Amino acid sequence: MTAARLTVDPRFAIGAVRRRLFGGFVEHLGRHVYDGIYEPGHPRADEQGFRGDVLELVRELGVSTIRYPGGNFVSGFRWEDSVGPRAQRPRRLDLAWHSTETNEIGLHEFSDWLDKAGSDLMLAVNLGTRGTLEAIDLLEYCNVPGGTTLSQQRIDNGRAAPLGVRVWCLGNEMDGPWQLGHRSADDYGKIAAQTAKGMRQLDPSIELVVCGSSGAQMLTFGEWERVVLQHTYDDVDMISCHAYYQEHHGDIDSFLASAVDMDSFIEKVVATADHVGAVKGSDKRIDISFDEWNVWYIDRVDSVKPTAIDDWPVAPRLLEDVYSVVDAVVFGSLLISLLKHADRVASASLAQLVNVIAPIMTEPGGPTWRQTTFFPFAITSRLARGVAVRLRIDAPVIDTARHGTVSGVDAVSTHDAETGATAIFVVHRGRHDAVDLVIDITGLGEVEIVETHLLADDDPSARNTLDDPERVQPRALEGARIVDGLLHVTLPPIAWAAVALQAR
Ligand code: AHR
Repeated sequence: MTAARLTVDPRFAIGAVRRRLFGGFVEHLGRHVYDGIYEPGHPRADEQGFRGDVLELVRELGVSTIRYPGGNFVSGFRWEDSVGPRAQRPRRLDLAWHSTETNEIGLHEFSDWLDKAGSDLMLAVNLGTRGTLEAIDLLEYCNVPGGTTLSQQRIDNGRAAPLGVRVWCLGNEMDGPWQLGHRSADDYGKIAAQTAKGMRQLDPSIELVVCGSSGAQMLTFGEWERVVLQHTYDDVDMISCHAYYQEHHGDIDSFLASAVDMDSFIEKVVATADHVGAVKGSDKRIDISFDEWNVWYIDRVDSVKPTAIDDWPVAPRLLEDVYSVVDAVVFGSLLISLLKHADRVASASLAQLVNVIAPIMTEPGGPTWRQTTFFPFAITSRLARGVAVRLRIDAPVIDTARHGTVSGVDAVSTHDAETGATAIFVVHRGRHDAVDLVIDITGLGEVEIVETHLLADDDPSARNTLDDPERVQPRALEGARIVDGLLHVTLPPIAWAAVALQAR
Protein backbone atom coordinates (compact mmCIF):
# COMPACT_ATOMS: atom_id res chain seq x y z
CA MET A 1 0.00 0.00 0.00
CA THR A 2 1.25 3.51 -0.85
CA ALA A 3 -0.15 6.82 0.39
CA ALA A 4 -0.91 10.24 -1.09
CA ARG A 5 -2.12 13.48 0.42
CA LEU A 6 -4.37 15.88 -1.47
CA THR A 7 -5.83 19.24 -0.52
CA VAL A 8 -9.06 20.65 -1.93
CA ASP A 9 -9.76 24.30 -1.35
CA PRO A 10 -12.33 26.17 -3.48
CA ARG A 11 -10.21 29.32 -3.22
CA PHE A 12 -7.85 27.76 -5.78
CA ALA A 13 -10.35 28.18 -8.63
CA ILE A 14 -9.05 27.66 -12.17
CA GLY A 15 -12.05 28.83 -14.16
CA ALA A 16 -15.72 28.18 -14.84
CA VAL A 17 -16.68 24.68 -15.96
CA ARG A 18 -18.22 25.45 -19.33
CA ARG A 19 -20.75 22.90 -20.56
CA ARG A 20 -19.02 22.86 -23.93
CA LEU A 21 -16.15 21.03 -22.26
CA PHE A 22 -18.37 17.95 -22.49
CA GLY A 23 -18.95 18.07 -26.22
CA GLY A 24 -18.91 15.20 -28.70
CA PHE A 25 -18.18 14.60 -32.35
CA VAL A 26 -20.23 12.82 -35.02
CA GLU A 27 -18.44 12.21 -38.31
CA HIS A 28 -19.81 10.53 -41.41
CA LEU A 29 -17.40 7.64 -40.94
CA GLY A 30 -17.89 3.89 -40.78
CA ARG A 31 -21.03 2.90 -38.85
CA HIS A 32 -21.31 6.13 -36.94
CA VAL A 33 -24.30 7.64 -38.69
CA TYR A 34 -25.59 4.73 -40.81
CA ASP A 35 -26.13 1.60 -38.66
CA GLY A 36 -25.24 3.73 -35.66
CA ILE A 37 -27.49 6.63 -34.75
CA TYR A 38 -29.69 5.88 -37.81
CA GLU A 39 -31.06 2.44 -38.57
CA PRO A 40 -34.56 2.45 -40.06
CA GLY A 41 -36.07 -0.96 -39.56
CA HIS A 42 -34.46 -1.46 -36.17
CA PRO A 43 -37.10 -2.41 -33.55
CA ARG A 44 -36.17 0.71 -31.53
CA ALA A 45 -36.07 3.11 -34.51
CA ASP A 46 -38.39 6.12 -34.33
CA GLU A 47 -40.44 7.56 -37.20
CA GLN A 48 -37.29 9.16 -38.66
CA GLY A 49 -35.22 5.98 -38.43
CA PHE A 50 -33.19 7.14 -35.39
CA ARG A 51 -32.52 4.47 -32.81
CA GLY A 52 -34.26 5.34 -29.54
CA ASP A 53 -31.91 3.14 -27.51
CA VAL A 54 -28.89 5.06 -28.86
CA LEU A 55 -30.57 8.39 -28.11
CA GLU A 56 -31.19 7.26 -24.53
CA LEU A 57 -27.49 6.49 -24.06
CA VAL A 58 -26.41 9.74 -25.72
CA ARG A 59 -28.61 11.64 -23.26
CA GLU A 60 -27.24 9.60 -20.35
CA LEU A 61 -23.69 10.36 -21.51
CA GLY A 62 -24.43 14.08 -21.16
CA VAL A 63 -22.86 15.50 -24.33
CA SER A 64 -23.33 19.22 -24.86
CA THR A 65 -22.18 20.54 -28.25
CA ILE A 66 -21.59 18.03 -31.06
CA ARG A 67 -19.09 18.72 -33.85
CA TYR A 68 -20.32 17.62 -37.30
CA PRO A 69 -19.93 16.29 -40.06
CA GLY A 70 -16.14 15.65 -39.79
CA GLY A 71 -13.25 15.18 -39.36
CA ASN A 72 -11.38 14.18 -42.46
CA PHE A 73 -14.76 13.61 -44.16
CA VAL A 74 -15.52 17.33 -44.22
CA SER A 75 -12.58 18.12 -46.50
CA GLY A 76 -14.32 16.40 -49.43
CA PHE A 77 -17.88 17.31 -48.43
CA ARG A 78 -20.32 19.41 -50.45
CA TRP A 79 -22.91 20.57 -47.94
CA GLU A 80 -25.52 21.18 -50.66
CA ASP A 81 -25.59 17.38 -51.28
CA SER A 82 -26.97 16.82 -47.81
CA VAL A 83 -30.10 19.03 -48.00
CA GLY A 84 -33.29 18.97 -50.06
CA PRO A 85 -35.44 16.02 -51.15
CA ARG A 86 -33.70 12.80 -50.17
CA ALA A 87 -34.45 11.00 -53.42
CA GLN A 88 -32.48 13.65 -55.31
CA ARG A 89 -29.42 13.65 -53.08
CA PRO A 90 -26.29 12.36 -54.80
CA ARG A 91 -24.27 9.33 -53.74
CA ARG A 92 -20.67 10.48 -53.42
CA LEU A 93 -17.30 8.91 -52.90
CA ASP A 94 -15.85 9.73 -49.50
CA LEU A 95 -12.13 9.79 -50.24
CA ALA A 96 -11.11 10.20 -46.62
CA TRP A 97 -12.57 6.88 -45.50
CA HIS A 98 -12.85 5.15 -48.89
CA SER A 99 -16.59 4.73 -48.49
CA THR A 100 -19.81 5.73 -50.27
CA GLU A 101 -21.77 8.60 -48.73
CA THR A 102 -25.45 8.24 -49.55
CA ASN A 103 -26.45 11.59 -48.04
CA GLU A 104 -29.54 9.92 -46.60
CA ILE A 105 -28.73 11.75 -43.39
CA GLY A 106 -27.86 15.41 -43.87
CA LEU A 107 -27.97 18.72 -42.10
CA HIS A 108 -31.73 18.73 -41.43
CA GLU A 109 -31.97 15.15 -40.25
CA PHE A 110 -28.91 15.55 -38.03
CA SER A 111 -30.35 18.74 -36.53
CA ASP A 112 -33.55 16.83 -35.75
CA TRP A 113 -31.46 14.11 -34.08
CA LEU A 114 -29.65 16.76 -32.01
CA ASP A 115 -32.99 18.17 -30.86
CA LYS A 116 -33.91 14.68 -29.67
CA ALA A 117 -30.52 14.19 -28.03
CA GLY A 118 -30.67 17.60 -26.31
CA SER A 119 -27.32 18.68 -27.78
CA ASP A 120 -26.17 21.69 -29.82
CA LEU A 121 -24.67 21.75 -33.29
CA MET A 122 -21.05 22.76 -33.95
CA LEU A 123 -20.39 22.81 -37.69
CA ALA A 124 -17.14 22.34 -39.58
CA VAL A 125 -16.80 23.92 -43.03
CA ASN A 126 -14.74 22.45 -45.85
CA LEU A 127 -11.58 24.51 -46.30
CA GLY A 128 -9.74 21.57 -47.86
CA THR A 129 -11.31 21.30 -51.30
CA ARG A 130 -13.71 24.26 -51.08
CA GLY A 131 -13.39 27.84 -49.95
CA THR A 132 -14.74 31.03 -48.45
CA LEU A 133 -17.87 31.35 -50.59
CA GLU A 134 -19.18 27.86 -49.83
CA ALA A 135 -18.59 28.46 -46.10
CA ILE A 136 -20.51 31.75 -46.23
CA ASP A 137 -23.31 30.07 -48.20
CA LEU A 138 -23.65 27.38 -45.55
CA LEU A 139 -23.75 30.01 -42.81
CA GLU A 140 -26.45 31.91 -44.70
CA TYR A 141 -28.45 28.69 -45.18
CA CYS A 142 -28.23 27.92 -41.46
CA ASN A 143 -28.49 31.24 -39.67
CA VAL A 144 -30.30 33.84 -41.81
CA PRO A 145 -33.98 33.91 -40.81
CA GLY A 146 -35.32 34.39 -44.36
CA GLY A 147 -35.61 36.68 -47.37
CA THR A 148 -32.70 35.23 -49.38
CA THR A 149 -32.49 32.32 -51.78
CA LEU A 150 -30.44 30.15 -49.44
CA SER A 151 -32.44 30.89 -46.30
CA GLN A 152 -35.64 30.27 -48.28
CA GLN A 153 -34.21 26.91 -49.38
CA ARG A 154 -33.80 25.96 -45.73
CA ILE A 155 -37.39 27.00 -45.05
CA ASP A 156 -38.63 25.04 -48.09
CA ASN A 157 -36.63 22.05 -46.87
CA GLY A 158 -38.59 22.06 -43.63
CA ARG A 159 -36.80 24.32 -41.12
CA ALA A 160 -38.67 27.62 -40.78
CA ALA A 161 -36.56 28.83 -37.87
CA PRO A 162 -32.84 29.44 -38.37
CA LEU A 163 -30.58 26.68 -37.05
CA GLY A 164 -28.66 29.36 -35.13
CA VAL A 165 -25.33 27.52 -35.25
CA ARG A 166 -22.99 29.36 -32.87
CA VAL A 167 -19.64 27.56 -33.17
CA TRP A 168 -17.91 26.95 -36.52
CA CYS A 169 -14.66 25.12 -37.29
CA LEU A 170 -12.64 26.57 -40.15
CA GLY A 171 -11.74 23.25 -41.77
CA ASN A 172 -10.23 20.16 -40.20
CA GLU A 173 -6.61 19.17 -39.48
CA MET A 174 -5.26 21.30 -42.30
CA ASP A 175 -1.70 20.62 -41.08
CA GLY A 176 -2.05 16.89 -41.78
CA PRO A 177 -0.56 15.49 -45.03
CA TRP A 178 -3.48 12.99 -45.06
CA GLN A 179 -5.99 15.82 -45.28
CA LEU A 180 -7.63 16.56 -48.65
CA GLY A 181 -6.40 20.06 -49.42
CA HIS A 182 -3.59 19.96 -46.85
CA ARG A 183 -1.85 23.35 -46.83
CA SER A 184 1.13 25.14 -45.36
CA ALA A 185 0.48 27.19 -42.23
CA ASP A 186 0.85 30.36 -44.29
CA ASP A 187 -1.60 29.29 -47.01
CA TYR A 188 -4.10 27.97 -44.50
CA GLY A 189 -3.78 31.04 -42.27
CA LYS A 190 -4.67 33.28 -45.22
CA ILE A 191 -7.76 31.35 -46.32
CA ALA A 192 -8.88 30.88 -42.71
CA ALA A 193 -8.62 34.64 -42.04
CA GLN A 194 -10.45 35.47 -45.26
CA THR A 195 -13.21 32.98 -44.50
CA ALA A 196 -13.52 34.10 -40.87
CA LYS A 197 -13.87 37.75 -41.93
CA GLY A 198 -16.53 36.86 -44.50
CA MET A 199 -18.49 34.70 -42.07
CA ARG A 200 -18.41 37.40 -39.41
CA GLN A 201 -19.57 40.01 -41.92
CA LEU A 202 -22.63 37.84 -42.29
CA ASP A 203 -23.11 36.89 -38.63
CA PRO A 204 -20.91 38.71 -36.07
CA SER A 205 -22.33 36.61 -33.22
CA ILE A 206 -20.71 33.33 -34.28
CA GLU A 207 -17.64 31.82 -32.58
CA LEU A 208 -14.86 30.61 -34.84
CA VAL A 209 -12.30 27.86 -34.33
CA VAL A 210 -9.16 27.92 -36.46
CA CYS A 211 -7.24 24.66 -37.04
CA GLY A 212 -4.31 24.09 -34.74
CA SER A 213 -2.15 20.98 -34.91
CA SER A 214 -3.43 17.43 -35.36
CA GLY A 215 -1.24 16.48 -32.43
CA ALA A 216 1.76 17.71 -30.47
CA GLN A 217 3.87 15.11 -32.34
CA MET A 218 3.39 16.91 -35.69
CA LEU A 219 6.70 18.21 -37.03
CA THR A 220 5.09 21.60 -37.64
CA PHE A 221 3.63 21.83 -34.11
CA GLY A 222 4.19 25.21 -32.48
CA GLU A 223 5.25 26.99 -35.63
CA TRP A 224 1.90 26.06 -37.23
CA GLU A 225 0.00 27.70 -34.36
CA ARG A 226 2.22 30.81 -34.47
CA VAL A 227 1.87 31.38 -38.21
CA VAL A 228 -1.84 30.53 -38.39
CA LEU A 229 -2.65 32.83 -35.47
CA GLN A 230 -0.56 35.64 -36.93
CA HIS A 231 -3.02 35.62 -39.83
CA THR A 232 -6.21 34.98 -37.88
CA TYR A 233 -5.75 36.38 -34.35
CA ASP A 234 -8.28 39.18 -34.68
CA ASP A 235 -10.85 37.08 -36.52
CA VAL A 236 -11.16 33.86 -34.50
CA ASP A 237 -12.02 32.93 -30.92
CA MET A 238 -10.40 29.54 -30.48
CA ILE A 239 -7.63 27.39 -31.90
CA SER A 240 -8.12 23.63 -32.05
CA CYS A 241 -6.07 20.85 -30.45
CA HIS A 242 -6.45 17.17 -31.39
CA ALA A 243 -4.88 14.30 -29.46
CA TYR A 244 -5.31 10.53 -29.46
CA TYR A 245 -3.45 8.18 -27.12
CA GLN A 246 -2.76 4.46 -27.23
CA GLU A 247 -0.63 1.90 -25.46
CA HIS A 248 2.60 1.37 -27.40
CA HIS A 249 4.27 -2.06 -27.30
CA GLY A 250 3.03 -2.94 -23.82
CA ASP A 251 4.38 0.27 -22.21
CA ILE A 252 1.44 0.65 -19.83
CA ASP A 253 3.19 3.12 -17.50
CA SER A 254 3.62 5.65 -20.31
CA PHE A 255 0.09 5.04 -21.53
CA LEU A 256 -1.32 5.65 -18.04
CA ALA A 257 0.57 8.97 -18.01
CA SER A 258 -0.89 10.18 -21.35
CA ALA A 259 -2.61 13.12 -19.65
CA VAL A 260 0.81 14.56 -18.84
CA ASP A 261 1.26 14.94 -22.59
CA MET A 262 -2.21 16.52 -22.91
CA ASP A 263 -1.33 18.98 -20.11
CA SER A 264 1.84 20.02 -21.87
CA PHE A 265 0.14 20.22 -25.30
CA ILE A 266 -2.48 22.62 -23.92
CA GLU A 267 0.10 24.72 -22.08
CA LYS A 268 2.31 25.04 -25.18
CA VAL A 269 -0.61 26.12 -27.38
CA VAL A 270 -1.68 28.67 -24.76
CA ALA A 271 1.91 30.00 -24.59
CA THR A 272 2.10 30.27 -28.39
CA ALA A 273 -1.27 32.00 -28.68
CA ASP A 274 -0.33 34.44 -25.91
CA HIS A 275 2.99 35.10 -27.62
CA VAL A 276 1.22 36.05 -30.86
CA GLY A 277 -1.16 38.26 -28.87
CA ALA A 278 1.78 39.95 -27.13
CA VAL A 279 3.59 40.60 -30.42
CA LYS A 280 0.40 42.07 -31.84
CA GLY A 281 -0.11 44.21 -28.75
CA SER A 282 -3.57 42.68 -28.41
CA ASP A 283 -5.62 42.38 -25.22
CA LYS A 284 -7.71 39.67 -26.81
CA ARG A 285 -7.28 36.09 -25.53
CA ILE A 286 -7.50 33.06 -27.79
CA ASP A 287 -8.96 29.98 -26.11
CA ILE A 288 -8.66 26.31 -27.04
CA SER A 289 -11.23 24.07 -28.65
CA PHE A 290 -9.92 20.56 -27.91
CA ASP A 291 -12.23 19.27 -30.57
CA GLU A 292 -10.85 15.76 -30.97
CA TRP A 293 -9.56 13.73 -28.02
CA ASN A 294 -9.72 10.08 -27.04
CA VAL A 295 -7.89 6.79 -26.76
CA TRP A 296 -7.51 5.42 -30.32
CA TYR A 297 -5.55 2.33 -31.41
CA ILE A 298 -4.75 3.93 -34.73
CA ASP A 299 -2.26 1.20 -35.66
CA ARG A 300 -4.69 -1.68 -35.27
CA VAL A 301 -5.90 -3.58 -38.32
CA ASP A 302 -9.55 -2.60 -37.90
CA SER A 303 -8.58 1.07 -38.15
CA VAL A 304 -7.36 0.53 -41.70
CA LYS A 305 -9.77 1.46 -44.45
CA PRO A 306 -10.38 -0.47 -47.70
CA THR A 307 -8.38 0.79 -50.68
CA ALA A 308 -9.46 -1.03 -53.88
CA ILE A 309 -10.86 1.13 -56.70
CA ASP A 310 -14.10 -0.86 -56.85
CA ASP A 311 -14.52 -1.12 -53.10
CA TRP A 312 -16.50 1.87 -51.76
CA PRO A 313 -18.77 0.32 -49.12
CA VAL A 314 -21.58 2.12 -47.34
CA ALA A 315 -20.97 2.26 -43.60
CA PRO A 316 -18.15 -0.28 -43.30
CA ARG A 317 -16.91 -1.30 -39.85
CA LEU A 318 -14.05 1.17 -39.29
CA LEU A 319 -12.25 2.31 -36.14
CA GLU A 320 -14.43 0.12 -33.89
CA ASP A 321 -12.01 0.03 -30.97
CA VAL A 322 -13.12 -2.03 -27.97
CA TYR A 323 -11.98 -0.27 -24.81
CA SER A 324 -10.50 -1.91 -21.73
CA VAL A 325 -10.49 -0.76 -18.11
CA VAL A 326 -6.97 0.66 -18.60
CA ASP A 327 -8.24 2.64 -21.61
CA ALA A 328 -11.09 4.02 -19.50
CA VAL A 329 -8.73 5.01 -16.68
CA VAL A 330 -6.54 6.90 -19.17
CA PHE A 331 -9.69 8.41 -20.69
CA GLY A 332 -10.82 9.59 -17.25
CA SER A 333 -7.40 11.18 -16.70
CA LEU A 334 -7.75 13.08 -20.01
CA LEU A 335 -11.00 14.56 -18.69
CA ILE A 336 -9.10 15.57 -15.54
CA SER A 337 -6.53 17.31 -17.76
CA LEU A 338 -9.25 19.22 -19.63
CA LEU A 339 -10.81 20.37 -16.33
CA LYS A 340 -7.39 21.38 -15.00
CA HIS A 341 -7.21 23.79 -17.94
CA ALA A 342 -10.78 25.04 -17.74
CA ASP A 343 -9.51 28.63 -17.83
CA ARG A 344 -8.29 28.19 -21.43
CA VAL A 345 -10.02 25.11 -22.82
CA ALA A 346 -13.37 26.66 -23.68
CA SER A 347 -14.72 23.71 -25.61
CA ALA A 348 -13.84 20.05 -26.14
CA SER A 349 -15.26 17.24 -28.27
CA LEU A 350 -14.87 13.60 -27.44
CA ALA A 351 -14.03 11.88 -30.73
CA GLN A 352 -16.30 10.13 -31.39
CA LEU A 353 -19.74 9.09 -30.11
CA VAL A 354 -21.24 5.91 -31.63
CA ASN A 355 -19.41 2.82 -32.99
CA VAL A 356 -16.38 4.80 -34.25
CA ILE A 357 -13.78 5.02 -31.39
CA ALA A 358 -16.89 5.47 -29.32
CA PRO A 359 -18.32 5.17 -25.82
CA ILE A 360 -21.56 3.79 -27.32
CA MET A 361 -21.70 0.67 -29.51
CA THR A 362 -24.56 -0.80 -31.54
CA GLU A 363 -25.25 -4.01 -33.39
CA PRO A 364 -27.48 -3.78 -36.49
CA GLY A 365 -30.89 -5.15 -35.53
CA GLY A 366 -29.47 -5.83 -32.07
CA PRO A 367 -28.60 -4.11 -28.83
CA THR A 368 -26.61 -1.05 -27.89
CA TRP A 369 -24.15 -1.01 -24.99
CA ARG A 370 -21.78 1.19 -23.01
CA GLN A 371 -18.04 0.84 -23.52
CA THR A 372 -15.78 1.26 -20.47
CA THR A 373 -15.03 4.85 -21.52
CA PHE A 374 -18.73 5.73 -21.26
CA PHE A 375 -18.56 5.81 -17.46
CA PRO A 376 -15.90 8.46 -16.74
CA PHE A 377 -17.47 10.77 -19.31
CA ALA A 378 -21.06 10.38 -18.07
CA ILE A 379 -20.06 10.73 -14.41
CA THR A 380 -17.76 13.72 -14.95
CA SER A 381 -20.24 15.50 -17.22
CA ARG A 382 -23.00 15.07 -14.61
CA LEU A 383 -21.00 15.98 -11.50
CA ALA A 384 -18.66 18.75 -12.74
CA ARG A 385 -20.42 22.01 -11.90
CA GLY A 386 -19.43 25.57 -10.99
CA VAL A 387 -15.70 26.20 -11.19
CA ALA A 388 -12.78 23.83 -11.66
CA VAL A 389 -10.47 23.83 -8.63
CA ARG A 390 -6.75 23.04 -8.58
CA LEU A 391 -5.64 20.50 -5.95
CA ARG A 392 -2.39 20.24 -4.10
CA ILE A 393 -1.14 16.69 -4.62
CA ASP A 394 1.70 14.93 -2.76
CA ALA A 395 1.95 11.42 -4.18
CA PRO A 396 4.52 8.76 -5.05
CA VAL A 397 6.03 9.16 -8.51
CA ILE A 398 6.36 6.76 -11.44
CA ASP A 399 9.16 6.74 -14.02
CA THR A 400 7.87 6.44 -17.57
CA ALA A 401 9.72 6.01 -20.87
CA ARG A 402 7.66 8.59 -22.77
CA HIS A 403 6.71 11.21 -20.21
CA GLY A 404 9.55 11.14 -17.67
CA THR A 405 8.80 11.02 -13.95
CA VAL A 406 5.12 11.61 -13.29
CA SER A 407 2.87 11.76 -10.26
CA GLY A 408 1.23 8.42 -9.51
CA VAL A 409 -1.97 10.29 -8.66
CA ASP A 410 -3.62 13.11 -10.55
CA ALA A 411 -6.83 14.87 -9.61
CA VAL A 412 -9.02 17.92 -10.04
CA SER A 413 -12.09 19.18 -8.25
CA THR A 414 -15.14 21.24 -9.15
CA HIS A 415 -17.10 23.40 -6.76
CA ASP A 416 -20.49 25.04 -7.13
CA ALA A 417 -20.76 27.82 -4.55
CA GLU A 418 -24.50 28.24 -5.21
CA THR A 419 -25.53 24.67 -4.47
CA GLY A 420 -22.65 23.70 -2.17
CA ALA A 421 -21.82 20.72 -4.42
CA THR A 422 -18.20 19.63 -4.78
CA ALA A 423 -16.85 16.81 -6.93
CA ILE A 424 -13.38 15.30 -6.83
CA PHE A 425 -12.06 13.34 -9.84
CA VAL A 426 -8.93 11.30 -9.31
CA VAL A 427 -6.79 8.83 -11.22
CA HIS A 428 -4.33 6.31 -9.77
CA ARG A 429 -1.62 5.37 -12.27
CA GLY A 430 0.20 2.89 -10.02
CA ARG A 431 0.05 -0.66 -11.38
CA HIS A 432 1.14 -2.71 -8.40
CA ASP A 433 -0.17 -1.42 -5.06
CA ALA A 434 -3.30 0.25 -3.78
CA VAL A 435 -2.99 3.87 -2.68
CA ASP A 436 -4.49 5.40 0.45
CA LEU A 437 -5.66 8.92 -0.30
CA VAL A 438 -6.05 11.38 2.53
CA ILE A 439 -7.84 14.41 1.13
CA ASP A 440 -7.88 17.57 3.23
CA ILE A 441 -11.32 19.08 2.66
CA THR A 442 -11.41 21.45 5.62
CA GLY A 443 -11.64 24.35 3.15
CA LEU A 444 -15.11 23.11 2.16
CA GLY A 445 -16.58 23.41 5.68
CA GLU A 446 -19.07 20.77 6.84
CA VAL A 447 -19.77 18.37 3.97
CA GLU A 448 -21.08 14.85 3.51
CA ILE A 449 -20.40 12.19 0.89
CA VAL A 450 -23.35 11.83 -1.49
CA GLU A 451 -21.95 9.65 -4.30
CA THR A 452 -18.79 7.66 -5.00
CA HIS A 453 -17.73 5.89 -8.20
CA LEU A 454 -14.76 3.62 -8.85
CA LEU A 455 -13.65 2.28 -12.21
CA ALA A 456 -11.04 -0.46 -11.73
CA ASP A 457 -10.91 -4.22 -12.16
CA ASP A 458 -8.83 -7.21 -11.09
CA ASP A 459 -8.42 -7.71 -14.84
CA PRO A 460 -7.45 -4.30 -16.27
CA SER A 461 -7.90 -5.66 -19.80
CA ALA A 462 -11.61 -6.41 -19.16
CA ARG A 463 -13.99 -4.94 -21.76
CA ASN A 464 -17.68 -4.67 -22.48
CA THR A 465 -18.65 -6.50 -25.67
CA LEU A 466 -21.75 -7.62 -27.56
CA ASP A 467 -21.53 -10.98 -25.78
CA ASP A 468 -20.79 -9.53 -22.36
CA PRO A 469 -22.06 -5.92 -22.47
CA GLU A 470 -22.02 -5.33 -18.71
CA ARG A 471 -18.74 -7.00 -17.79
CA VAL A 472 -17.25 -3.67 -16.62
CA GLN A 473 -19.34 -1.33 -14.46
CA PRO A 474 -18.36 1.43 -12.07
CA ARG A 475 -19.01 0.59 -8.44
CA ALA A 476 -19.12 2.51 -5.17
CA LEU A 477 -15.85 3.28 -3.39
CA GLU A 478 -15.98 1.04 -0.37
CA GLY A 479 -14.75 2.58 2.86
CA ALA A 480 -14.80 6.21 1.70
CA ARG A 481 -15.32 8.30 4.83
CA ILE A 482 -14.78 11.74 6.33
CA VAL A 483 -12.98 11.99 9.67
CA ASP A 484 -12.12 15.39 11.18
CA GLY A 485 -12.15 17.23 7.85
CA LEU A 486 -10.14 14.52 6.08
CA LEU A 487 -11.67 12.42 3.33
CA HIS A 488 -10.19 8.90 3.29
CA VAL A 489 -10.34 6.91 0.09
CA THR A 490 -8.43 3.79 -0.96
CA LEU A 491 -7.87 3.23 -4.68
CA PRO A 492 -6.75 -0.11 -6.15
CA PRO A 493 -4.05 -0.14 -8.85
CA ILE A 494 -5.02 1.43 -12.22
CA ALA A 495 -8.15 3.22 -11.10
CA TRP A 496 -10.29 6.23 -11.88
CA ALA A 497 -12.71 7.52 -9.25
CA ALA A 498 -15.13 10.33 -8.48
CA VAL A 499 -16.50 11.51 -5.14
CA ALA A 500 -19.40 13.93 -4.85
CA LEU A 501 -19.70 15.97 -1.63
CA GLN A 502 -22.51 18.20 -0.48
CA ALA A 503 -22.36 21.05 2.02
CA ARG A 504 -24.57 20.33 5.04
O1 AHR B 1 -11.64 10.91 -35.43
C1 AHR B 1 -11.10 10.23 -36.52
C2 AHR B 1 -10.24 11.13 -37.40
O2 AHR B 1 -9.14 11.56 -36.66
C3 AHR B 1 -10.87 12.42 -37.87
O3 AHR B 1 -11.62 12.26 -39.02
C4 AHR B 1 -9.69 13.28 -38.13
O4 AHR B 1 -9.97 14.65 -37.98
C5 AHR B 1 -8.64 12.78 -37.18
O5 AHR B 1 -7.43 12.53 -37.82
